[in-house]
Order: sequence, then C-alpha cells, then structure tokens
Amino acid sequence: ASQPVIAPSILSADFSRLGEEVAAVDRAGADWIHLDVMDGRFVPNITFGPPVVKALRPSSAKVFDAHLMIVEPERYVADFVAAGCDGVTVHAEACTHLDRTLQLIRERGAKAGVALNPATSEEALAYVLDRLDLVLVMTVNPGFGGQSLVPATIEKVRRVRALIGERPIRLQVDGGVSPATIGTLADAGADSFVAGSAVFQGGGEAGYARTIGLLRDA
Ligand code: DX5
Ligand code: ZN
Repeated sequence: ASQPVIAPSILSADFSRLGEEVAAVDRAGADWIHLDVMDGRFVPNITFGPPVVKALRPSSAKVFDAHLMIVEPERYVADFVAAGCDGVTVHAEACTHLDRTLQLIRERGAKAGVALNPATSEEALAYVLDRLDLVLVMTVNPGFGGQSLVPATIEKVRRVRALIGERPIRLQVDGGVSPATIGTLADAGADSFVAGSAVFQGGGEAGYARTIGLLRDA
C-alpha cells in the first residue's frame, strides 16, 4: 500500500486568518491541505471558491486537495486547477457525465478523484477506474465538520479497496476521522485521511502537530 497521507481540512480552521492557518498546519506536518468547497446546493452549507484557493496558494507548497461539494462541478474544474489545486475530487452524485468530467480534470493537469456519499454504492466506480487517481469514501454526510462517522461506510472502504486492486489509486476517507477512528479505517484499506475538527480543535500550531502525530501513530 502507499504511504499514508494526513490531509487536514481547513473547513474547521479560523476563516479570519486562513492563510496563517494553512501555513501553520503545513509546518505542523500535514501531507496535503484538504479544501472543502460547498455551494449551498449540493450540500446545505457554503464555503469558498477559486479566488480564496488562489489567495492561499502562497501559504504552502504542499498538495492542494480540492473536494468539490457542488452541483455541475465540470463548470469550475478549470478555475480550481488554475487557482492552484493539484487534485480535484467531484461527487459521483453531482455528475451527469462522470466519465467526461474525470477526463477534463486530467486534461487540465490535475489528479482526478471521485467522492461517494454514504448512501452511494461503490458500483458507481466500476466503469471509471482507469480515469481515477483517488476515491473519496465519505464517512459522514457532507456539509459540516464535527459529525460522527457513519458505521456502514467502513464496509464500503473494504469493498472499494478490493475494487481498486493493484491500480495506483488512493483511497481517501473524510468525516469523523480522529485518533480513535483512524486505525479501523486504515485496517479497512484507507490510505489518505482527511481530518477537520480533530486537527483544528485548538492549541495552535503545537496542537495541530500533536494531533497529526497521534493520527499518524494510530
Ligand atoms: C464534510 C467535509 C469534511 C469535513 C470533515 O462535509 O467534506 O472534509 O470537514 O470534518 P471532520 O473531520 O470534522 O469530520
Ligand atoms: Zn472534504
């Protein structure tokens, strides 16, 4: 399996000092920076778009991992890549033409990911595996940080791991990831871990580093 990746989600950071928060979590040992983009339609919450991503880009040289929780994501793929995203993940439920959208992400030069809501079957991946660099199994219903993990998603992680086989595709989990849950998810086959509230719960940079260390050890 690939080296595990810890990807703090800045959804739970202090939005009034987002650039400093990205720099702090970078220094604290984050592997990737996870960017939760919400449009108030696909999910009942609104966050930020390409101009904010562009403004954050100078604050870290780490991978910018964008998770688009928006309808018609194909309309914004080029903007997010131009703003500095290294990877773009779209929701299967939000794409009428998933195969085409994944091609578009790669054509623009980014890694292509598909996210699945808790109720969406892994069968949605069956015919696009060769177009994927990452699968994101949502372990909560997207929209908010600080929710607890939906237990049924652990079995889905196992099934997606089997589906991926030997392909060079990362298996990311997002939602309710903490030092208490990460071991189970890793055992099920996840190798990329998004954590929002667990990392940003406090303590500034030293606190972020402590939690990232705990996540890695667990
Ligand atoms: C959920 C987002 C997650 C979220 C995770 O809608 O996609 O990235 O911020 O937050 P925690 O780690 O607090 O569950
Ligand atoms: Zn996310």
